[in-house]
Amino acid sequence: MKKAILTPIFLGVLACWSALSVIAEDPTLFFTWEITYGTIYPLGVPQEGILINGQFPGPTIEAITNYNIVVNVFNKLDDKFLITWSGVKQRRTSWQDGVLGTNCPIPPNTNWTYKFQLKDQIGTYTYFPSTKIHKAAGGFGGLNIAQRSVISIPYPAPDAEFTLLIGDWYKPNHKVLRRLLDLGKTLPLPDALLINGQKDIDVFTGEAGKTYKFRVSNVGIATSINFQIQDHSLKLIEVEGAHTLQETYKSLDIHIGQSMTFLVTLDKSVGDYYIVASSRFAEANLTTTATLRYSGSNRKVSGQLPIDPTMDLDWSMKQARTIRLNLTANAARPNPQGSFHYGTIPVLRTLQLANSKSILNGKLRYAVNGISHINPSTPLKLADYFNIPGIFDLNTIKDVPSSSSLVKFGTSVIGLTLHDFAEIIFQNNENTIQSWHMDGSSFYVVGFGNGIWTPDVRKTYNLVDGITRYTVQVYPKSWTAILVSLDNKGMWNLRSAIWENRYLGQELYMRVWSNEQSLYTETNVPSNALFCGKAKHLPKF
Ligand SMILES: *[C@@H]1O[C@H](CO)[C@@H](O)[C@H](O)[C@H]1NC(C)=O
Ligand SMILES: *[C@@H]1O[C@H](CO)[C@@H](O)[C@H](O)[C@H]1NC(C)=O
Ligand SMILES: *[C@@H]1O[C@H](CO)[C@@H](O)[C@H](O)[C@H]1NC(C)=O
Repeated sequence: MKKAILTPIFLGVLACWSALSVIAEDPTLFFTWEITYGTIYPLGVPQEGILINGQFPGPTIEAITNYNIVVNVFNKLDDKFLITWSGVKQRRTSWQDGVLGTNCPIPPNTNWTYKFQLKDQIGTYTYFPSTKIHKAAGGFGGLNIAQRSVISIPYPAPDAEFTLLIGDWYKPNHKVLRRLLDLGKTLPLPDALLINGQKDIDVFTGEAGKTYKFRVSNVGIATSINFQIQDHSLKLIEVEGAHTLQETYKSLDIHIGQSMTFLVTLDKSVGDYYIVASSRFAEANLTTTATLRYSGSNRKVSGQLPIDPTMDLDWSMKQARTIRLNLTANAARPNPQGSFHYGTIPVLRTLQLANSKSILNGKLRYAVNGISHINPSTPLKLADYFNIPGIFDLNTIKDVPSSSSLVKFGTSVIGLTLHDFAEIIFQNNENTIQSWHMDGSSFYVVGFGNGIWTPDVRKTYNLVDGITRYTVQVYPKSWTAILVSLDNKGMWNLRSAIWENRYLGQELYMRVWSNEQSLYTETNVPSNALFCGKAKHLPKF
């Protein structure tokens, strides 16, 4: 009797289970990318660009949460090459991160295949070359992750979407720019801003009355931008994988490496409207436009370009504080984003990271806590995995800024424990804006403030609905505080997204570690891993 009742239920559960495991077989998107030089004309004159399959910018990856991504990169440049996937969580595998601390660069005329899964995130991201100054020549593109069909999103589905990659651009070739940096000089001011590789040309067409999703990323190397659309409001819905409180803005600041997603309703009279990107906190006052066109429009763009002040720090900081997490909305999983209650978790480690600019051996260098980072020829992750001594030392960089202004070269790796909950304060005593990016984990942005951070400003932290993201700005002569749950084992790059600063030493690695060796916390070295430096002659397996 008992059995008769139980069996059908049991079978039902089994049937359900197998249906689930079919769904759990996540689709894979395969890409073959050929990286070449090619002539491009972003400012009307021929320039050497870095193309992916002949395209500048590179192809947009359109994916869904949980998809596996396989990208076989054929490097046809005369230079070693790596691509990084900005803000892609890459759970349990820093092996695919594509930065010099985790990967040997792909030599010319060879290929290497990246494999990773897009987990736990919905949103707008980018990929770009991570070494040299390749990013100044192209090689970047959009990476859009949509929700699975079983996941609801906190806004009505838009009628269509547009991806806008906006960044500063230089007329000099990237090799000329690199040579300047190698000589210890600063980069010249950028010559323009581009929208999807063009200046004042691109047109985005929609129907009156409909609502469009605009995915906007700053893919530049030096310049913060302000984004707006003439006469239209921007409803912010997502920032680097977090659903925001849906506030409406006339314009928004987007710093280097950051991405934002807006909804824009075409609720004005049929016509053409300016889409405007202008530089912020920059010496060069750059503006570029594209056109938002209502279909059927026969009215050309007109009127004064709507441009907001380019240096107003207080305005920008105030706006940054309004970008908050919608606690009840879900993210990539059905549970609400607010269920983590980050503000109630005890902080186990505080890092205070101060950036600085100085002259070392007669050359311009940037540093963090007095250490100007040098990438060893053996990737840190390989050195760690194979216990190769003499590559890095966890005592090189300290948790707090040094009291002396002395700057030294070093290989900066901070040792952190897996599952630690950390507070990181970025202290910017320079009078230029900074943008910091963390690979591997998103973080909660809990505070921005002027001057020097002190422990008592903790009482001003937003411990309730701070946004989570991967890239955060630090205003001139100001600080930014973040909280982060270090739940992703690996060797993760924490870097200035401003390329001159990073190239000349403003970066470090976070070694998120636990002694337990388990595939549940970290995958093994991939079978196709490239070996270089002191790892070059290790046996392959
Ligand atoms: C290079 O590409 C070939 C296919 O053309 C592939 O079989 C091979 O695995 C790739 N090599 C690496 C290291 O990923
Ligand atoms: C850019 O604009 C600011 C403020 O409007 C001004 O102070 C500055 O001189 C301008 N810079 C250049 C290079 O024109
Ligand atoms: C927050 O998300 C919920 C969905 O859970 C949505 O209904 C609501 O409109 C959102 N609120 C704001 C202010 O964005």
